[in-house]
Amino acid sequence: MLAVGADGRSPGVGGAPTDLEAEVAALLSSADDPGRPGAVQALPRPTRQPAKVLLVGVGAGDEAGWRAAGAAVIRMVRPDEPLQIQLGEDVPAAALRGLAEGLWLGGYRFRDAPKGPRSIEVTVAVTAAETYERSLELARVTAAATWLARDLATMPPSVKNPAWFAAQIVAEAATRPGLTATVREPEQLAAEGFGGILAVGAGSATPPRLLELSWRPATASRHVVLVGKGITFDTGGISIKSREGMKLMKKDMSGAAAVVAATLGAADLRLPVRITALAPLAENAISGSAYRPGDVITQYDGTTTETTNSDAEGRLVLADALAYAVAELRPDVVLDLATLTGANAVALGKRTAALYSHNDELAGSLAAAGAAAGEQMWRLPLPDEYREYLDSDIADRHSSPSRGAGSVVAALFLSQFLGDLLDRWAHIDMSAPSWIEQDDGDLTKGPTGWGTRTLMRWLATA
Ligand code: BES
Ligand code: ZN
Ligand code: ZN
Repeated sequence: MLAVGADGRSPGVGGAPTDLEAEVAALLSSADDPGRPGAVQALPRPTRQPAKVLLVGVGAGDEAGWRAAGAAVIRMVRPDEPLQIQLGEDVPAAALRGLAEGLWLGGYRFRDAPKGPRSIEVTVAVTAAETYERSLELARVTAAATWLARDLATMPPSVKNPAWFAAQIVAEAATRPGLTATVREPEQLAAEGFGGILAVGAGSATPPRLLELSWRPATASRHVVLVGKGITFDTGGISIKSREGMKLMKKDMSGAAAVVAATLGAADLRLPVRITALAPLAENAISGSAYRPGDVITQYDGTTTETTNSDAEGRLVLADALAYAVAELRPDVVLDLATLTGANAVALGKRTAALYSHNDELAGSLAAAGAAAGEQMWRLPLPDEYREYLDSDIADRHSSPSRGAGSVVAALFLSQFLGDLLDRWAHIDMSAPSWIEQDDGDLTKGPTGWGTRTLMRWLATA
C-alpha cells in the first residue's frame, strides 16, 4: 500500500511510476475535497503494484494538517499490510513530525489488553533522511509518553491503586539515567503534615501516596514543578456521585499521568530544564474511615479547610502538593493539571481545557504550546470578587461553594496555596478533554493523554 500526501496543489508523488502519477492526477481532479486535513481517497489498483493508493489531505500542509493525515491513514491499514508513505522533496521537518505523531497517536491500543497492541510496519520514504531525524525523535518520544498516559488512565481502578501507580513510575524512572523517584507512604505524609492527601485517601483500602519524580540535568537553568491530580478512582466519597457521574472516574488521575509521562519524555529528550513532577495519589472511597462533609483538615501549609463536600477532593490533594512545592522546592514556575471540575465541560465543551494564571506571559506560552501540540486551552479569569464564596465560619476556607463558576472557584481555591509564587503559577482544568467517546483524528476512543503533548512542547522552550 502506498499513501501519498496530497494537498490538492502539490501531490508529491516523487519517484512514483508515471502511470501512477497520471492516475493520481486524475483522481485528484475529480475528488470532492482532496485537501481537507485527514480526508482520504482510495485508489484501488487490483492487478498492479501498489495494489491500493491512499490520497490523504494535509490541509495547509502545516504540522497539524500532516498530523491529521497520519492519524487518518493508520486507521485504514490492516496489521498485515505494510504501509509505505512516499513524501515529496520539499516536505518540511515539522510536517514529518506531524505525520509521525499522527500515525503513532491514531494507532494507539491499550498495551495491557488481551490482544495487546497491533503492530503495523510503516516505511516513510524521504530524500535526505538525516534532516528529519530530530523530528522523528520528537514525534516518537512525544507519542510514547502519550501512550503511557493513556495506558495509565485506561487501567482498571482495582489494579491502579496509589501504590501501583507510584510503582509503575518508579520502574519507568529506573530505566532512565538522571531521573529519581521517591514515594511517600502514609506514615511519612502524616509526619510532614500532608493533611489533604491523608483525608482524601482515608476511606480507601489502598492508602495514599505522594510520588515525586525529578529530572535534574546539569545544564538546567530553570526549575519547573508540575503537579498532577492523581485520584485513582473518585466515588465522590460520602457525598457520593450519581451512577452516571461515577462511571468514568477511573480517569481522575489523568493530570498525574500527564505530568509524569511528560517528565519521562523530557528526560528521554534530555531537555535542559530541571523538572519536579508531584503526583498526590489517593482513592476517594467510601467507608467508615472516609472523611466527612463538615470535617476540618489541616493542609501542608498549616491552614485549615472545611471539607463541605467530599466530592471536591482534588483541590485538597493538590493544595498540599502546591504548598509543599512553594515551601520546599522554590521553583521558577509551578503548573498544575487536574480533572478538577465537571464545570470545565459546562463552560468550554468537551475538547477545551480551562487555563488560569495571573501571569500573561506564562498563560500565553502554555496556550501556544497547546495549539502547536494539537491540544486546546482557553484562559478564564481569577476574579477577586468570587473569593468570598470560599469563606468558612470555622476554618480558613471551605472546599465546595455552590454559587456557580465551579471551575473558576476551584482555581481560586488552589491560588491560596501559592504564597509568593502566585504570579509564577498556572492551573489547567482538563476534566473535559481527558476522555473521548469515539475515535477522532489523533485521539482514540477512551483516555486522550491530554496535556502530555502540551507539556512536552512547553518544556522544550521553558
Ligand atoms: N473528578 C471530579 C471532576 C470531574 C467531573 C472530572 C467530570 C471529570 C469529569 C471532581 O472531583 C468533582 O467531583 N468535582 C466536583 C466539585 C464540586 C463538588 C465543588 C464537581 O465538579 O461537581
Ligand atoms: Zn470528586
Ligand atoms: Zn475528582
